[in-house]
Amino acid sequence: MTTRRVITDGDRGEEHNMGGEVWILGGSGRSGQAIAAQLARRGVAPVLVGRHAERLAAAAARAGGARTVVAGSAEAMAGEIRRQGPAVVVNTVGPFTATAPTVTRACLAVGDYVDLANDVAAVTGVLGLHEAASAAGRRLVTGAGFGVTATESVVVKLCAGRPAPVRVRVDMVPSIAVAAGHIGEALAATLVEGIPGVEGGRRYGGRRYRDGRLAPAPIGGEPAHLVLPDGERVTTASLPSGELVAAQRASGAPDVVAASSEAPASPLMRVVLPAATALLASARIRDFARRRLARVQVKAHPQPRPHSWGHARLEWADGTVEEGWLRVGEAQEFTGAVPAEVVRRLLSGEGRPGAYTPAALFGPSLAEACGGTYLPVTTRTAP
Ligand SMILES: NC(=O)c1ccc[n+]([C@@H]2O[C@H](COP(=O)([O-])OP(=O)(O)OC[C@H]3O[C@@H](n4cnc5c(N)ncnc54)[C@H](OP(=O)(O)O)[C@@H]3O)[C@@H](O)[C@H]2O)c1
Repeated sequence: MTTRRVITDGDRGEEHNMGGEVWILGGSGRSGQAIAAQLARRGVAPVLVGRHAERLAAAAARAGGARTVVAGSAEAMAGEIRRQGPAVVVNTVGPFTATAPTVTRACLAVGDYVDLANDVAAVTGVLGLHEAASAAGRRLVTGAGFGVTATESVVVKLCAGRPAPVRVRVDMVPSIAVAAGHIGEALAATLVEGIPGVEGGRRYGGRRYRDGRLAPAPIGGEPAHLVLPDGERVTTASLPSGELVAAQRASGAPDVVAASSEAPASPLMRVVLPAATALLASARIRDFARRRLARVQVKAHPQPRPHSWGHARLEWADGTVEEGWLRVGEAQEFTGAVPAEVVRRLLSGEGRPGAYTPAALFGPSLAEACGGTYLPVTTRTAP
């Protein structure tokens, strides 16, 4: 049963649902369970929402006997949200371009919204609801996973009180421990459908910002060879992702690239990829790729390096260059912690109404509250 206490903040005339339920959509999934565990550490008992009663019941038992709500689709989940009025909904059901519009519409009527979106179209779509969320007094937080939060947090920290830089590059270097199992529908669909789908270039092509606008960029392009603060070397290359949008908004820079150690950076892949992604223009091939990918069985393997990293390099008009790093542990664990910490802060009435990425709403301290550590910033002048 929902126990909802609505308080009014007299100063801002805003309403917050305090003490109401926190729902995790996709509560039986990998991310859903990681978020439930992190919420429990913060004293919040979530309600697990999903489409399979048995899988949900097993997940609920692991989460110490959580309440469950069975709903077979995003539309059914939205119906239950409207009917039962949770205070905060955490959406882990990708592809978010498909589920976020339906779920956010329901949330605007009853409470706050958090998701794990990490693709340009889904993140942009939620951020586009800023006016509607402000008018409704709701807080929508998109991109609350490792990639957006780890990179955006460094940019927010380096830009505080400064004019906008002219150039920004963010790099995410996740270290993920993989459990044996299927890739699954949500992740497979997000991988296939998550390539831009926004203006500024081909439907299944890469993006960067040029002159303040989204522009074409090769997936796997602009490789950089980074030496991590612990001495390990990695190569990152451009990948169109939510990080790109978050870094541009946090910095105001006209020229922005988002890169990842997970991007295919080899010269061969850079030749093969444009042809491979062109094939995705066919709905039949996309459908086939989704179904095949969802069934792929992955073997368990330990995290490849002790830490995951968010990195940002910012360049200002006077030639000043600053580089910052955020060190976190295993990336999926951080992806569990970020939504949980966002929920904790929302339940305490922190954050203003509107639509935001996590560090844009809660600042660089959010990543620290999730176990992240900022390393000392290096400053130099560009030659
Ligand atoms: N931003 C980030 O850093 C980050 C990190 C990790 C994951 N993600 C994203 O989060 C999403 C979930 O990833 P995951 O690894 O947790 O996947 P997962 O383990 O497959 O979990 C997905 C959950 O969603 C449910 N689901 C899938 N399709 C559904 C549908 N059509 N209707 C209702 N429920 C559905 C699944 O239910 P069943 O159990 O019934 O299949 C499962 O509970 C993916 O889109 C992924 O890209 C983002």
